[in-house]
Amino acid sequence: MDPLQAVRLEPRKKRSRQMGASRTSLPQDVKFRDLVLFILEKKMGTTRRAFLMELARRKGFRVENELSDSVTHIVAENNSGSDVLEWLQVQKVKDSSQLELLDVSWLIECMGAGRPVEMTGKHQLVVRQDYPASPNPGSQEAPALAVHRISEYACKRRTTLNNCNRIFTDAFEILAENSEFRENEDSYVTFIRAASVLKSLPFPIVSMKDTEGIPCLGDKVKGIIEEIIEEGESSEVKAVLNDERYQCFKLFTAVFGVGLKTSEKWFRMGFRTLSKIREDKSLKFTRMQQAGFRYYEDLVSCVTRAEAEAVDVLVKEAVRAYLPGAFITMTGGFRRGKKIGHDVDFLITSPESTEEDEQQLLHKVVNLWEKKGLLLYHDFMESTFEKLKQPSRKVDALDHFQKCFLILKLPHERVDSDRPSQQEGKNWKAIRVDLVMCPYECHAFALLGWTGSRQFERDLRRYATHERRMILDNHALYDKTKRMFLQAESEEEIFAHLGLDYIEPWERNA
Ligand code: CTP
Ligand code: MN
Ligand code: MN
Repeated sequence: MDPLQAVRLEPRKKRSRQMGASRTSLPQDVKFRDLVLFILEKKMGTTRRAFLMELARRKGFRVENELSDSVTHIVAENNSGSDVLEWLQVQKVKDSSQLELLDVSWLIECMGAGRPVEMTGKHQLVVRQDYPASPNPGSQEAPALAVHRISEYACKRRTTLNNCNRIFTDAFEILAENSEFRENEDSYVTFIRAASVLKSLPFPIVSMKDTEGIPCLGDKVKGIIEEIIEEGESSEVKAVLNDERYQCFKLFTAVFGVGLKTSEKWFRMGFRTLSKIREDKSLKFTRMQQAGFRYYEDLVSCVTRAEAEAVDVLVKEAVRAYLPGAFITMTGGFRRGKKIGHDVDFLITSPESTEEDEQQLLHKVVNLWEKKGLLLYHDFMESTFEKLKQPSRKVDALDHFQKCFLILKLPHERVDSDRPSQQEGKNWKAIRVDLVMCPYECHAFALLGWTGSRQFERDLRRYATHERRMILDNHALYDKTKRMFLQAESEEEIFAHLGLDYIEPWERNA
């Protein structure tokens, strides 16, 4: 039986009868002498506290009635961490940093095991600072102090762009990318999860002690962190950066239309530079790759926010010319508050339009841009959406919406920037744009799916599957227990269906 259940189901009468039977443990009854527990009554209640104290003492734990200097572990239930800290401050505890702050789930696991179990991230109330709930750098709100356990799921963490562990996350992202190039999925997941959890920390890791209680950091990862702390760099990362295959894949995949397969082929054929590939007469390029080479310089120089805003105006003008009531949202990295991106993503939906209108819209928009001379490349994917189909189980599955991948010619004059326009003659920049059209019923799911980050989305789906018996994708949420689809009008409702605290878009930079 689940130990938590056992505790909860204990009848009231029995509990009160046993209370006070042994208010303090006799020294000879204490089996685990390194720990001195104190159980917080606040929000737990007197009865449950007394019951847990009694139980813990019977199992050989030393539990204090009062908070004293000898206490090493504080156990709390239904308390936000800031509550615990606040309470400690009221008790005039000067140095709470030596105290372990634990959720009652730890104590319950200990009771089940009959001994102190390892304290992991899921038990520990870790002190962290919450960022102001605004991506706006001008915001002056003081960060509030709060305590949270760090979850192994990115969708239960708040990850802003304020990354104070870049030295580590850069290293792990390079290792993850290299694993991807080598098609080593397990190693990719190990490194990308490590990078992701470190990005969510509100404090920089300066010693190995700081890594305690943080999930997703296995021995391999910890070894690399230790090396970076001690040596300032990781020998493994250095080796990857010097690796010819890594360098070539990095170079080749930066070209629009070039993926792992093509890179592999070119690498095997002995190509090491893009210029040799471009010159080679025997190679056949797809239309996408041709565009990728033609606009290479523009496309590898990232899209700025000012450029994204200018594209936003272009998209809104064109879409509203045909569907005045359409909703147009800039999604992807820019919605998460990023200042630069590799493209600009848009989700379009319309509450009152026919299927025919919806199907035609992107075509009309693209034709308009073509007429205006703004279209450099486009690739349509028609909708393959079936409403009654169960959501996809794959964490990386593509969605079925109608979409168009484009390269637009953005005139410099449309960009509100103080940067002087560079080259003479060429007064525009090629910009990658993704347009997605979705039926109005699933716009909340599409918005959630297209806002990213990739890692955040993967963990949302993983969480839905493993923790909720639900299937989530860009179209819908299916509850396997209730055997029904759960409707949602907004992202907030989807988080609520999943039993998750709402995470704002700028906190999804996992
Ligand atoms: N996405 C998706 N299906 C695709 C492509 C993308 O669901 N076929 C989602 C991904 O979850 C991703 C988001 O759309 O997070 C945006 O994709 P992308 O533009 O590739 O990434 P960004 O996060 O916007 O990063 P960047 O700033 O580099 O563009
Ligand atoms: Mn994007
Ligand atoms: Mn995109």
